[in-house]
Amino acid sequence: MTSLVLTPLLVFFYLSLASANNYDVVNFGAKGNGQKDSTNAFLNAWVAACGSAQPASIYVPPGRYLLRKVEFIGSNCRNNQITIRIDGTLVAPSDYRVLGNADNWLLFEQVSGVSIYGGTLDGQGTGLWACKASGYGCPKGATTLEFSNSKNVLISGLRSLNSQMFHMVINGCNNVKVQGVSVSASANSPNTDGIHVASSAGVSIFNSRIATGDDCISIGPGTTNLWIENIACGPGHGISIGSLGKAYQEDGVQNVTVSTVTFTGTTNGVRIKTWAKPSTAFVTGVLFQHATMVNVQNPIIIDQNYCPNDEGCPNQASGVKISDVTYQDIHGTSASPVAVNFDCSEENPCNRLILEDVNLSYGNQKSQASCVHAEGSASGFVKPSSCL
Ligand SMILES: *[C@@H]1O[C@H](CO)[C@@H](O)[C@H](O)[C@H]1NC(C)=O
Ligand SMILES: *[C@@H]1O[C@H](CO)[C@@H](O)[C@H](O)[C@H]1NC(C)=O
Repeated sequence: MTSLVLTPLLVFFYLSLASANNYDVVNFGAKGNGQKDSTNAFLNAWVAACGSAQPASIYVPPGRYLLRKVEFIGSNCRNNQITIRIDGTLVAPSDYRVLGNADNWLLFEQVSGVSIYGGTLDGQGTGLWACKASGYGCPKGATTLEFSNSKNVLISGLRSLNSQMFHMVINGCNNVKVQGVSVSASANSPNTDGIHVASSAGVSIFNSRIATGDDCISIGPGTTNLWIENIACGPGHGISIGSLGKAYQEDGVQNVTVSTVTFTGTTNGVRIKTWAKPSTAFVTGVLFQHATMVNVQNPIIIDQNYCPNDEGCPNQASGVKISDVTYQDIHGTSASPVAVNFDCSEENPCNRLILEDVNLSYGNQKSQASCVHAEGSASGFVKPSSCL
């Protein structure tokens, strides 16, 4: 019996040893001295791994590797199991004009079965932030890491520092797991969202720590079956579904769970935010549960009147329909009197909002709840007392 059980395992083991196609970027000319441009070395290592008929891995040893924009294209790969193990730091050019208006710095496009383990990505964003703070003539900047139109992706133990724009974007993907990542940028860095998910299904984000200048996690149109659990967020703008409804024709957001998050000193806790203009977008089937708020400006908020600079939406109501949103076991402290704020669309009131075991206090004063065009129910202990 034993050998019957072992044999297939052993065969598998030897096969995987024999096919250990391991490509070290140093063998392709990369130098971890922080000076030499290693872009081509990384690209060539990718081409080799992607061209392998067997599962392959890419290794990045300790050191600092300077990279310009890199596009890892997977549409013609011969295998769907590429492991990238990073012991070093990938460094963006210190002059932000090099990436300029490139949408992203490290882009994985149409890949399938890519796993990234470890590594630090240093976006060197401080120069661009300073430029943006001083006013005009600055490029938009680049997202540090993006997976686009890809599937079966794992990002594990990665650190992202000082991105120019977003730290990580998952767009048009299916089955992506992000775990044990850490994101860090200054509290006043502009547009440095931690992880942005859009047009994707089956994304999960676990056990991560995000400190940044914009949303810790932002959820864009077309996101379904998203699971977020065990996150430390702050500083930052919280976890946000939206902004949605900027475009008239837009996909909805459905089936999102956000569980066990600690928000520390953030501007928002759990937020849904939509533009105040007509749109086909919607939000439904959302569960926010087990959240701890530590001195959060707006712990629970729905804002359907977003319209920066009052441009393009004066006196309009949001077309985004919000329904079936549950807030369960949300407790801690609010940094402003209105701890629960449902500001919904006049044309599309929120419905089936549920508050269950909510306990948010505001110093020694009374915390408040505000409801505009919001319908739903409350159960358990709810403080501030429900306005639904
Ligand atoms: C909702 O999403 C979760 C993953 O986050 C998935 O396991 C579940 O099956 C989805 N539910 C429905 C009804 O699709
Ligand atoms: C609500 O929170 C306050 C402050 O943390 C705490 O003293 C109180 O016991 C909590 N109430 C309930 C019902 O959990």
